[in-house]
Amino acid sequence: MINKTFFPGVAVITGAGGTGIGAAVAHAFAVAGCKRIAITDVNEETLEKTRDAIAIAYPKVQLMAQPGNVADDQFAESFVSKVAKAFGRVDYAVNCAGVLGVPMRSSETSLAEFDRVNNINYRGCWLSSRAQLKQMLEQDPLSSHDLTRPAQRGAVVNIASQLGIVSRPNAPAYCASKSAIIGLTRADAIDYSKDGIRVNCVCPGVIETPLVMEKAEVREAITPAANIAPMQRMGKPAEVADAVLFLCSTQASFVQGHAMVVDGGYITV
Ligand SMILES: NC(=O)c1ccc[n+]([C@@H]2O[C@H](COP(=O)([O-])OP(=O)(O)OC[C@H]3O[C@@H](n4cnc5c(N)ncnc54)[C@H](O)[C@@H]3O)[C@@H](O)[C@H]2O)c1
Repeated sequence: MINKTFFPGVAVITGAGGTGIGAAVAHAFAVAGCKRIAITDVNEETLEKTRDAIAIAYPKVQLMAQPGNVADDQFAESFVSKVAKAFGRVDYAVNCAGVLGVPMRSSETSLAEFDRVNNINYRGCWLSSRAQLKQMLEQDPLSSHDLTRPAQRGAVVNIASQLGIVSRPNAPAYCASKSAIIGLTRADAIDYSKDGIRVNCVCPGVIETPLVMEKAEVREAITPAANIAPMQRMGKPAEVADAVLFLCSTQASFVQGHAMVVDGGYITV
């Protein structure tokens, strides 16, 4: 191995506040030796918690934390340009920001609710990845962890869901927003292969995060679905983060346009 870490470059994570998947991804990069990490979230308070926890545990990591809304069409560009100014480049871009919709069938769903979910989940993911891809196109590739493999100009990992592949009751906007992320991932994988950029997504199953656990009515509606999966349990954010880091690393140098399901076998049943 030439580099001491699989992550000599710069990591950018959206939806990184608190104790969910994005925060676990940020921690996992620090654990794996990534020394430049930029995080963002619409929730300034939880973003600061993630930043402080990493800063205390990994004082050698250079951290940038910038609050912002991924649905704002100006935010992603300004955030990525600040990251590029401070850290020089963007190598591993992980788009985790997302919301669940209010549980309703399509006939009861308002246009405003449909747009809210899609503006954050799908459009927000596209806006973020578009800004990240533009930056990646400007930078020289970094050499791989072994010289038999091509250098990598960048890797994007979008967080979709098992609900982008199968569906569940009362979640039409959410399920469609996650299917759209899978489609976007495949399309971008085709378009940016020639530039040495890989684009993949991870489709988590039922994961123990604030999104699922915080509100009693959501917890009661969603957690029983974990028993559908052969592994009969919820996943941990760190179990999703490890899949994300693999896809970002040059260990995944031939993995392109993939939707990696991390769901305890849920969709196999
Ligand atoms: N937890 C699960 O069971 C599960 C399953 C499949 C997919 N996912 C997806 O994983 C991703 C992370 O979710 P999580 O479970 O860690 O939940 P979470 O609520 O802990 O994390 C989501 C983060 O996104 C942030 N966010 C919401 N709207 C935003 C916006 N407009 N701009 C910027 N940030 C915003 C939230 O503040 C939060 O910190 C989401 O995209 C979610 O859809 C979660």
